[in-house]
Amino acid sequence: MMLGFKRVLLLLVSFIMAFSLSVQASDAYAPKLDQVKTSVLDTASLQRGADIYAQYCMGCHSLKYLRVSRAARDLEWTPEEGIGHLQYLRDGKGKVHDAILTTLDAQTAKVAFGVLPPDLSLEARLRGTDWLYTFLRSYERDAQGKVSNRLFDGVAMPFVLEGLQKSLPPAAFDAAVADLVNFLDYAAEPAKPIRLMLGWWVLGFLALLFVLTYLLKKEFWRDVKHQA
Ligand code: HEC
Repeated sequence: MMLGFKRVLLLLVSFIMAFSLSVQASDAYAPKLDQVKTSVLDTASLQRGADIYAQYCMGCHSLKYLRVSRAARDLEWTPEEGIGHLQYLRDGKGKVHDAILTTLDAQTAKVAFGVLPPDLSLEARLRGTDWLYTFLRSYERDAQGKVSNRLFDGVAMPFVLEGLQKSLPPAAFDAAVADLVNFLDYAAEPAKPIRLMLGWWVLGFLALLFVLTYLLKKEFWRDVKHQA
């Protein structure tokens, strides 16, 4: 059966509308997240984020799927600089081909927090960058000194960025968290910068190919039209 072009178009549009409606509906009860703009192509931001990670998060959380050598290469550090930035907790025992591991042992963590701080290698894929950005900026301490998180009820993780948050103006703190989230986004997919760059090359190639095939088509049809 042949469907008319209009009918196919109508079908397509209604599919797309139904899909976007269902996406909106499933978001209806989700907490409102603050949006963050990050780019894994911004190496300076990734470097700043890695340093914040190393200083404030690595004490408890590992990135077990990311090696220091890989991170150093992508962040434009030498292997030695990579060790300096990302293995400084290991007192010179960290190797460049090791993963970025915490020095916190599981037993101590269990006693201190009741739960193990999860590995953060894939956290940005699990939660998304907006969630991470909102989570890290949702800690507060009430008058009694009790810490809570507006996004994560009853969170076992302490208010680790409290010192940083107090020492910086709000906009600078937000920017620092954005760098950190950018680094976690990179860590969740180290090939992402290359993939994005490759995407532009592919689009450029297709654009060029389009022009060439169009010229070729004109060339073929010129003869056909002349015969007619
Ligand atoms: C003192 C130890 C400690 C430090 C330092 C720490 N965390 Fe945590 N983190 C935890 C613990 C414990 C949990 C588990 C919380 C829970 O399940 O209630 C956690 C949970 C998390 C989660 C939520 C995981 C999930 O999806 O449920 C994220 C995201 C996170 N941490 C990110 C960070 C980042 C980023 C830093 C650095 C700024 C950091 N953490 C520093 C102990 C720590």
